[in-house]
Amino acid sequence: MLHSLVELFRCPNSAGAGERCGGRLEEQASRLACVRCGAIFPCLSGIPVVLPDAASVVLDWRANLEEFSAISNHVGSDLLTAISTSERLGPLKRERLTRLRDGLAAQAVETLAAFAAAGLEARPRTAEPSPYSMKFGVLHYQHHIHRDWAWGDSEIAQARAQMAQVWPAKRKLGRALFLGVGAARCAAELSHEWQADLAVGIDTNPLPLLVAQTVLAGRAFNFHEVPSSPRSAHLPAIPRTLQGRADLGGNLQLVLADGLNPPFAQGSFDTVIADWFFDQVVPDLEAYLPLVRSLMSENGVLLHHGPLVYPSTTPRSRRHTAEELFELLQAAGFEVIAQTEAKLPFMESPDCNQGRVERVFSFTARLATPSPAPLNAIPNWLLSDDLPIPYFTGLDRYSPPHPFFGAVVAAIDGLRSCAEIASRIANQQKLSVSTVTVAVRAALREIHRICQDRDG
Ligand SMILES: C[S@@+](CC[C@H](N)C(=O)[O-])C[C@H]1O[C@@H](n2cnc3c(N)ncnc32)[C@H](O)[C@@H]1O
Repeated sequence: MLHSLVELFRCPNSAGAGERCGGRLEEQASRLACVRCGAIFPCLSGIPVVLPDAASVVLDWRANLEEFSAISNHVGSDLLTAISTSERLGPLKRERLTRLRDGLAAQAVETLAAFAAAGLEARPRTAEPSPYSMKFGVLHYQHHIHRDWAWGDSEIAQARAQMAQVWPAKRKLGRALFLGVGAARCAAELSHEWQADLAVGIDTNPLPLLVAQTVLAGRAFNFHEVPSSPRSAHLPAIPRTLQGRADLGGNLQLVLADGLNPPFAQGSFDTVIADWFFDQVVPDLEAYLPLVRSLMSENGVLLHHGPLVYPSTTPRSRRHTAEELFELLQAAGFEVIAQTEAKLPFMESPDCNQGRVERVFSFTARLATPSPAPLNAIPNWLLSDDLPIPYFTGLDRYSPPHPFFGAVVAAIDGLRSCAEIASRIANQQKLSVSTVTVAVRAALREIHRICQDRDG
């Protein structure tokens, strides 16, 4: 692994009381170890897993693979039953279901082989799911893999051209961090073209990274595409060969890491790239931007590219428009230097009826003043609904101003997440979980702020 990258890592494990360990990591054979807490971070096919409690995460992923395997077999048997027991199947439908069954089975084999090549075989579950469980399935974001490496150049080229419009002329990427890098085509092209000294692409979802790692090492990868709504009964599953692209692989290092708890030292990067990340992944941008800022060097630039289309679970108050986002950036000490927007195609598979056009906003922002905010000003468990809320400093002396705050404090046991606390209170008080989640999130932020103020 590149020495310059290892230098940047800091241990993401919890050190209790809402703090993280933050120790330096050192390379030991094919893994990393924290010099402070001794935690081990394994590597999968050369991709370091620098997630909190990485060993449990990897065990959990193995259990996810076992579950995936069982579900795949089930789906295959159901399709077989449908094909063999229904007398009224037309010939085209019969063909589609038969090809679909074969394609899904082949895709499952290819997927399991990608993990096995990285040393991850399916294993029965022995522990509870980790916060980084593949809860949306092993194949979550599979279409990004095909969009990036199988459908041709058009979508990525249009995205890159729009990003180039806002990128300062002649500026190089320097040390660059790509948040939520996905299948990594755009990151690989940008880090190549804009001459990154070191490019790091992080994501929490292993399959796209494993495939990207193979392709960028110059090896072809066979991976069936199974469109959600196929264009033709003859093509419900398409065998695709993703060609090796060693020409792009030079300086992009992929890392399995959490963009909401990035395992890097302050000031590590000259460029942070959020490509379809802020709106899709970050639950609270206002709280998140100071963390992004803290990762950046004094002359750092943030490049954003994405549609500002939020998941339905994001409260409406946090579905920021571009103008609001600029306001938040300003408040976090950024200055927007260039911006543009255009309607761009998204996920237009040649063999699927689905595919859409989105208005996509690109902008760059630089740091308006030096002095980065402290890395841990907003703990990662306040940025995610799924991480355990620790019993943080000052909680024992906190006096709730309202019974609801009392209920939230009473539910903090060091293990429950915001979502779990909310579901507990919602059940107790017969309220809707989504409403209570918003209130618990806000209450936790306020309780933590008051405890910190008093402590500081
Ligand atoms: C909409 S996709 C964008 C992927 C890629 N940037 C692109 O434009 O093709 C969002 C990506 O963020 C990743 N992601 C989700 N939560 C994350 C987290 N906490 N940290 C890092 N990546 C995350 C997803 O796995 C996914 O690859």
